[in-house]
Amino acid sequence: DGWRLVALESVGSTNDEATRLADDGAPEGTVVWAREQTGGRGRRGRNWASPVGNLYSTTILRPACAAPRAVELGFVAALAVGDLVPAGRTVRLKWPNDVLVDGGKVAGILLESAIGQDGLAEHVVAGIGVNVSFAPQLPEMRYPGAALGGTVEAALEGLTRALAARMAQWRRDGFEAVRGEWLAKAGPLGAEVDVRLGEGLVRGRFAGLDREGALLLDTEAGPRRIVSGELLGRAA
Ligand code: BTN
Repeated sequence: DGWRLVALESVGSTNDEATRLADDGAPEGTVVWAREQTGGRGRRGRNWASPVGNLYSTTILRPACAAPRAVELGFVAALAVGDLVPAGRTVRLKWPNDVLVDGGKVAGILLESAIGQDGLAEHVVAGIGVNVSFAPQLPEMRYPGAALGGTVEAALEGLTRALAARMAQWRRDGFEAVRGEWLAKAGPLGAEVDVRLGEGLVRGRFAGLDREGALLLDTEAGPRRIVSGELLGRAA
């Protein structure tokens, strides 16, 4: 189905490997998977502990959209991870791209884009780490960890299929469809949340996701739109 797997025993970061391949022209659907990473990266410069036993993979996407729209793919990827979760467990999506299962963080998503001179997203690498057999508890984690269970191979296959299907949905129906489904699985509207913005903290009530992927908050000082920040645990 056009997907190509590059399987590695060990690598620094699958995102770096995928970026290298994308720069060399690798097509959309190239998936770089490693059993372990020695320099796994998380958002905001954090490490992502990557010993054997969990899933570390990065998929090359070529969305051919305007650069700012590349953020939409983080929501596409979060929905794909949610699709892996067996029925009977509760999936909750947290802005921007966290996936919680029964209240614990089960996956992390790190999107990195290369912007062409025409202002289009030339490629986006979607790095996804899924806790399969265990949940590392990092001191800086805002939520407890959770694990999906099953095997890494099954998670990889399920994720690859789900991401292909979600990308097809995004291309066919646009971000509106993705946004609607994401909202249906996000924290309830009105839930109290804290958002860290650089040094400061904004407190408010969750008011949705706008058409550009920004977080909407109702604060005491009025409505606010947040493009980049970190949602803290109060809404968990
Ligand atoms: C987060 O901070 O929540 C995002 C974590 C993303 C981890 C994945 S594992 C596969 C890919 N390679 C990396 O170095 N990071 C991503």
